[in-house]
Amino acid sequence: MAVIVWSDEFLIGHADLDQDHRALIAGINAIGLALDEARPNAEVIAEIDRWLAAFTIHIQAEEHMLQFLTLPPGRSHRVQHSKGHAEFVHRVQALRRAVADGTVAPGDMEQIGTFMTLLELIRADFEMLGHLRREGVLRPDGSLAVPA
Ligand SMILES: [Fe+2]
Ligand SMILES: [Fe+2]
Repeated sequence: MAVIVWSDEFLIGHADLDQDHRALIAGINAIGLALDEARPNAEVIAEIDRWLAAFTIHIQAEEHMLQFLTLPPGRSHRVQHSKGHAEFVHRVQALRRAVADGTVAPGDMEQIGTFMTLLELIRADFEMLGHLRREGVLRPDGSLAVPA
C-alpha cells in the first residue's frame, strides 16, 4: 500500500518544486513498498539513499532561495524551514539505521509520510512561497529574480 497517495492538494504552485515533491513522494512509496515486500536490507537502503540524494538536491534549491529573504518574518521562516529540513533528513537517516539493524517499527513509514506532507509541503513550503513572492525573490510567473 502506498505510504502517501498523491493529491493535487499537495501542489504549492511552483512547477519545479512541485515536480520534485511528486518524485520525492514516489520515492517514499518506493521505500515503503521495499519494506512491505521484505526485500533485502541492501535494496531498501539503496532506495533510502536514492531518496536522501534527491531530497538533498531539493532542499539545496529551496535553501538557496531562502537566503535572499531579508525581512524579519522571512528570516525567521528561513531558520524554521531549514531546521525542518535537517530534522527530516535526521528522521530518514534514523530509518536507514533501523533498516540496517532490523528494528523498523510499524508506523515508521507513516511518520515519514506525515512529515513530508504536513510539515514539508503544507506548512513550510507553502509559507516559503508566500515570503519569496512578497519579497520579490520569485516573480509572479515563478521565475527567480535573484542569481541562480
Ligand atoms: Fe520542498
Ligand atoms: Fe522545504
